[in-house]
Amino acid sequence: MTTNLVTVAYIAASILFILSLGGLANQESAKQGNLYGIAGMALAIGATAASAPVNNYGLLVAAIAPAILVGALVASRVAMTSMPELVAILHSFVGLAAVLVGIGNYLQPESGLVGAEGTIHQVEIYIGVFIGALTFTGSLVAFGKLRAILGSKPLLLPGRHVLNLLLLAGTVALGVPFLGAEGTAGLVPLLGMTAIASLLGIHLVIAIGGADMPVVISMLNSYSGWAAAAAGFMLSNDLLIITGALVGSSGAILSFIMCKAMNRSFFSVILGGFGATGGSGSGKAVEGTATPTTVEETVEALDAAGSVIIVPGYGMAVAQAQHAVAEITKILRDRGKTVRFGIHPVAGRLPGHMNVLLAEANVPYDIVLEMDEINEDFPETDVVLVIGANDTVNPSALEDPDSPIAGMPVLEVWKAHNVVVLKRSLAAGYAGVGNPLFYKENAQMLYGDARTNVNAVLSQLTTTTAAPALTAVA
Ligand code: TAP
Repeated sequence: MTTNLVTVAYIAASILFILSLGGLANQESAKQGNLYGIAGMALAIGATAASAPVNNYGLLVAAIAPAILVGALVASRVAMTSMPELVAILHSFVGLAAVLVGIGNYLQPESGLVGAEGTIHQVEIYIGVFIGALTFTGSLVAFGKLRAILGSKPLLLPGRHVLNLLLLAGTVALGVPFLGAEGTAGLVPLLGMTAIASLLGIHLVIAIGGADMPVVISMLNSYSGWAAAAAGFMLSNDLLIITGALVGSSGAILSFIMCKAMNRSFFSVILGGFGATGGSGSGKAVEGTATPTTVEETVEALDAAGSVIIVPGYGMAVAQAQHAVAEITKILRDRGKTVRFGIHPVAGRLPGHMNVLLAEANVPYDIVLEMDEINEDFPETDVVLVIGANDTVNPSALEDPDSPIAGMPVLEVWKAHNVVVLKRSLAAGYAGVGNPLFYKENAQMLYGDARTNVNAVLSQLTTTTAAPALTAVA
């Protein structure tokens, strides 16, 4: 394939990647966005494989085929709830690849660049390897935390910010002998910097608490993009630069959005220490008596309601209750009730978790609303069904300034006339914080596994639907 053709293919692939990101921004177009992404990647791989520098196809197939097999197998088997772990480990691969490409590129004898061009190339290598090493070890630690191999509590070493600065200064200092070295004599400082950057990656992420892990994952996603972009500069590959920049900037924007949703300062998350209370809980002790309810009472409340909002959370994902929830929604809507969903930006365990589950269960997109779109409607709502959500509906985020989640915007479900919470106990959610919602006068607890209870509500609703129909026939 000629260089021109490869360039055209790369431009087409870049456009497909941009269309893909655009598509993924919206539930209705997400499937198409995915298809654009797949097409772009197929085109990119095909064009690269057909380009002039690639001639050893045996080696290429030997490297790619097992990777495709393992990737497809792992991705098809992973549970939705384990997706963040998979994403974290995949980011570590991108980081490692950037390190290996950088070192390999440095050792490549025929790079032939001299003078200013040579120096720029060396800076590209140095920065690429730095970001790659940071991403590699940071992602490994994130994976360990999400997998519970490492504790989710942050490790806060005394003077950690000074330590970070010293590590950073060490990498900058090693850049001097690296850039001044002739030929490949700079390998030792390069490897030294790689070791320090790896330590920095570990230290930065290990200082971040469990509650901030979602932001860390999307930040590492961003880093992996920048690492890929740096590799693109090293290899003079425009497509890799564009793709890396797209991943890097979209990951950074997502991190920012998530920080806003969790009321965290972006820089404080990066520097660690927040989420320290994740899993332990503090703030005001939550006391009171929760009112239990039954499936029958829940069905009665739904039957009497004109407007219903369903707020799903992590528990709905664990219980896989989304299909029964979708059927309940259909029945209630067929009976002329207004039924909508309220989705918190960090409900579940990964961005868009609830949207994916509801889309899978064929819930119409137009009744699935974001927190900001629906929060003002709770006071006029008859019944709210909270299905396996906890932190995202916790009033102490707004009412208790000492709460570990103070200031986090939440779905204000307690403002509705009647709230039914479906969960197994009064236990805390991910952030480990007690929830005063369960003790509010207008809240009732429908204890048990969400799927069992939602199915029970569904079957009762179905029978009550059948009754008027029979009467009508009689
Ligand atoms: P959580 O606050 O984590 O609460 C989920 C609740 O589901 C638990 O309290 C649990 O209570 C209940 N549950 C578990 N299994 C259940 C089952 N089989 N049936 C019924 N209930 C079940 O969930 P949330 O409101 O979705 O909030 C998400 C939290 O995760 C936030 O703190 C967020 O910061 C964090 N986080 C989010 C992400 C992203 S990006 N979305 C990633 C990582 C972490 P019982 O044990 O009493 O049943």
